[in-house]
Amino acid sequence: MDTNLHFTLPTEVFSGRGCVAKQAQRWMLGRHALIVTGKTSARLSGALDDVCACLDARQIPYVTYEGISANPDETQVYAGAAVARTRGCDFVIAIGGGSVLDAAKSIAWVVASDVPREAFFNGVPATDPVLPIVAIPLTCGTGSEVTQYSIITDHEAKTKKNVSSAAFFPTIALLDAHYLTSLPKDVLCDTALDALSHAIEGIYSLKADCFSRALAETAIGVLMPELVRMAHGTFVNLAQLQYGSMVAGMVIAQTGTGLVHAMGYPLTYYKGMPHGRANGVLLAGYLTFMQATCASLTERILAAAGLSMPEELQALVDTLLDIQGCFREAPTEEELEVFTGDSLRLEVVRRYRTLPSPEEVKDLYRMGF
Ligand SMILES: [Fe+2]
Repeated sequence: MDTNLHFTLPTEVFSGRGCVAKQAQRWMLGRHALIVTGKTSARLSGALDDVCACLDARQIPYVTYEGISANPDETQVYAGAAVARTRGCDFVIAIGGGSVLDAAKSIAWVVASDVPREAFFNGVPATDPVLPIVAIPLTCGTGSEVTQYSIITDHEAKTKKNVSSAAFFPTIALLDAHYLTSLPKDVLCDTALDALSHAIEGIYSLKADCFSRALAETAIGVLMPELVRMAHGTFVNLAQLQYGSMVAGMVIAQTGTGLVHAMGYPLTYYKGMPHGRANGVLLAGYLTFMQATCASLTERILAAAGLSMPEELQALVDTLLDIQGCFREAPTEEELEVFTGDSLRLEVVRRYRTLPSPEEVKDLYRMGF
């Protein structure tokens, strides 16, 4: 086994019931907090109340920006940054799913580095300062609490763009699975499929090494039994899902994502499919495609998942989407042309030994529907 590796994870992670209050002294990272949330989940889960109680007890002032929607664009980033500027915030607390955590990272950058809007998608200079970030995830898919990525929709390019910097790793991540109890079942399922795709894509990446692959196998082994339980409609262990999602996040922090994400983005942008669901429908076809050139890695993935062939994963995803009543509208041939072009233009597809042809990408889309 090749044991050469490169592993980075500057985020301090705490998990367990009540960890927000228990670790409160550790996450007081400044003198005035910007709290970034989505529309409802921060309040519904109780996380926002817990955070505000900790800040109040320490007399740390804060302002809340609750304007982040799914697939945030730079308009939301700049609106949040404006709120932070007017109040002189010097640290950011992100409470929500991947969209909230990702937007909060960009807000922390825009505020600290005074980034002009026209330069937002031009990349983050390595020397740019970023406000310290506290990440409290309320879904179990993104892994953003332990990554350097901020995925922001670029309407001009008609896709999601990866705005990332080593300085985007949250300083501290607080994972309390109790906050997931108010999560709708379809969101739970979609985000878990996202986490599974992170682990699977991470294993195949050219950047993967023995350690990131071991982490990915762990994530797959933790996530799959919960997805099977979801499909059977039985009790799902939220702490396990949250843990598996975080471990898969640690994987993509090293490897990045790949073809499934590149192909999933157009399904989200043009068809409105939730990010994790878009990845989920493409996963089995991707495994089949990769099996031809990466047989031993595919074997490892299937073994970790407790499967003997990719078709079993397709059956599981179909069941999961059926029980949620999710209707999947197959892309038209014209749409496939656009989606294929968009996904092959993204840099992430080059992180693999096997670059699919446009026809192969179209077939992979067809297999998912
Ligand atoms: Fe993802």
